[in-house]
Amino acid sequence: MEAGDESFTQKKEKAKKKKPKLLNKFDKTIKAELDAAEKRRKRGKVEEALKAFETLVADYPQSPRARYGKAQCEDDLAEKLRSNDVLLRAIGSYEEVSTLPNVPADLMKLALKRRANRQQFLGRTRGSVVTLQQLVQLYPDDISLKNDLGVGYLLLGDNKKAQEVYEQVLLQDPSNGFAKVHYGFILKADNKIAESIPFLREGLLSGEPGTDDGRFYFHLGDALQRAGDKEAYTWYEAGYKKGHFASVWQRSLYNVNGLKAQPWWTAKETGYTDLVRTLEANWKIIRDEGLAVMDETKGFFVPEDENLREKGDWSQYTLWQQGRKNEKSCKAAPRTCAFLERFPESTGCRRGQIKYSIMHPGTHVWPHTGPTNCRLRMHLGLVIPKTGCRIRCANDTRSWEEGRVLIFDDSFEHEVWQDADSYRMIFIVDAWHPELTQHQRKTLPAI
Ligand code: LMR
Ligand code: MN
Repeated sequence: MEAGDESFTQKKEKAKKKKPKLLNKFDKTIKAELDAAEKRRKRGKVEEALKAFETLVADYPQSPRARYGKAQCEDDLAEKLRSNDVLLRAIGSYEEVSTLPNVPADLMKLALKRRANRQQFLGRTRGSVVTLQQLVQLYPDDISLKNDLGVGYLLLGDNKKAQEVYEQVLLQDPSNGFAKVHYGFILKADNKIAESIPFLREGLLSGEPGTDDGRFYFHLGDALQRAGDKEAYTWYEAGYKKGHFASVWQRSLYNVNGLKAQPWWTAKETGYTDLVRTLEANWKIIRDEGLAVMDETKGFFVPEDENLREKGDWSQYTLWQQGRKNEKSCKAAPRTCAFLERFPESTGCRRGQIKYSIMHPGTHVWPHTGPTNCRLRMHLGLVIPKTGCRIRCANDTRSWEEGRVLIFDDSFEHEVWQDADSYRMIFIVDAWHPELTQHQRKTLPAI
């Protein structure tokens, strides 16, 4: 670094650390009382401090600093009591600060930022977005507020609004790494693969706070793979080194650490030999129920909708998902569902599905990775053309056989080709990773 840069950086640091001005003219006249209350709060005497600030608010209802102190005490108390009701009071008090006359700009910003943060914490995303909109209006030069607002829109699923926000940020500050990764992420979600790459790449290279997130490595690698660029693995490697992926091949983001991890499994290794035997012994019944649905009730088969295909025709008919049985679907395949009822390791797998999968000739499924390492995926071959159907998991490519079960861990990268001259049908049965405890199977959040 050059000397000139250094002094610039130092100046920037100083500017950042500049103490915010929290007192207006009036509050300066009651500074001693405010300081005394604040001192108690800083010492962790939350209840005492809250009383002191409440008294100040009663005596000086127009004092922004007293109101802010009250809000912070409620905030601390909510944390201490783990109480959402108290936190809601704090959220309300932060807003009251913003409605008082002569609020110093710094105090206003602190109060509203904390309000938005706590709203988001409580899952009140819409409310937090409203607060952030207010902040952006009040402080149009503060880019970090726009960046936060963009995240709020993304949490609401409003990618279009988020995109607009990040476009504005990048006009204001073209090298903003946080905006770049998020903008790239939005383009990627919109299937604008080539356009997403430079934004994701440059955003990650910026190393800015908020950019080091597994999802950005995941989607940059995925975009590069789809573009046929080997640089993908450089990013997977980087994501692995940063601790986001269990390995370069295994890139699921919702994991339990330490579970045995290998791409392909034998029935014996899983311990689910009874389930595998049941599937293989009854494969014709399972097949015939699937075929009947395909012929008569096509609506049960839903085209794959996760944008995993480069090309082709692939649809699925789901019997269980997230550990819940679809009663209507099961009415159409009663014997198959009856076989499965005996196997809670699968029907109770809240991080998986049980489904038929039909893939037509001319289909290619991009290399992809499932969301979690908590399940293993069984494929029972039902209608398998003699040649042309393959599945690669990590660096090992296999083919299905009718009446036989293949087992793989779909948290490893896998890819599928269907180049036969007729359709392929398999039955997919997910099961909990055998090393998960009963307690984990009960308590892990569904995916
Ligand atoms: C997958 O699970 O990604 C695919 O292998 C499913 C399929 O139908 O081949
Ligand atoms: Mn898959």
